[in-house]
Amino acid sequence: MVKSHIAPSILASDFTELGCQCNKVIDGGADWLHLDVMDGHFVPNISLGLPVIESLRKKIPSSRCFFDCHMMIENPEKWVQKFADIGIDQFTFHYETTKNPKELIKLIKSCGLKAGCAIKPGTDVEVLYELAPLLDMCLIMTVEPGFGGQKFMKDMMPKVEHLRNKFPNLNIQVDGGLGKETIGDAATAGANVIVAGTSVFKAEKPSEVISYLRKEVDD
Ligand code: DX5
Ligand code: ZN
Repeated sequence: MVKSHIAPSILASDFTELGCQCNKVIDGGADWLHLDVMDGHFVPNISLGLPVIESLRKKIPSSRCFFDCHMMIENPEKWVQKFADIGIDQFTFHYETTKNPKELIKLIKSCGLKAGCAIKPGTDVEVLYELAPLLDMCLIMTVEPGFGGQKFMKDMMPKVEHLRNKFPNLNIQVDGGLGKETIGDAATAGANVIVAGTSVFKAEKPSEVISYLRKEVDD
C-alpha cells in the first residue's frame, strides 16, 4: 500500500502568522506543506510566490517538512529553476499549461526536484496514463483551481480509481474541499496524498483533523 501524506494548504492560513501556523501543523503531524502558487492568468486569483516560499524554507528545512508546490501558472518552464534555487521539494505543473509535458518533467528532474502533474476537473484522466511512469505524483483536482473553501467534487473520484488501478504505487493527490466529510470518498477511490486547506487551518485542533485524515487513508 502507498504511504499516506497529509499536506495542509497554506492558502487557508492567516498570512500574518504564517511561520507559526506552519510550524503548528507540522508539529500536529503534517508531512508536507502544500504551497499554491497562482499567477492571475491560468487561474482567476493571485496568491503567493518566490519571496514567501523562500522565507518559509529558511525557517523550515526539507528535513522537517516537504515543500509541495502546486503551480497554477502559465509558462511553468520559465519558473522551474527559480523555484529549485529557493529549495522547494516538488514542482507540480498543470497539464493544461504546457505543450510538452515530457520535456517539462525532464527539466524539473534535472533541477533536482520531484515532478508532479495536475489536471483540472474538465481534463480527462487518460492524459496522465502516458506521463505517470515518468512522474512522482499525479494531482486530480477536486475543485476548479483558484480558490480555497470550495465544495469537493465527488464526481472526480472515478479518475482517481482508474489511475490507482493502473498505477498501484503512484502518489495520487487530491486537492479541494477535503475534510472529515469527504476524505472517505477520496480514500476509497485510492488517493494517498491529501491536500486540506480550510479543514486543517480553520480547525480548533489541526492535529486532530490531520490524524483523522491519515487514519481514513491508512485503514
Ligand atoms: C485551490 C488550491 C487548493 C486549495 C484547497 O486552487 O489548489 O490547494 O487551497 O483549499 P480547501 O482545502 O479549502 O478546499
Ligand atoms: Zn493546491
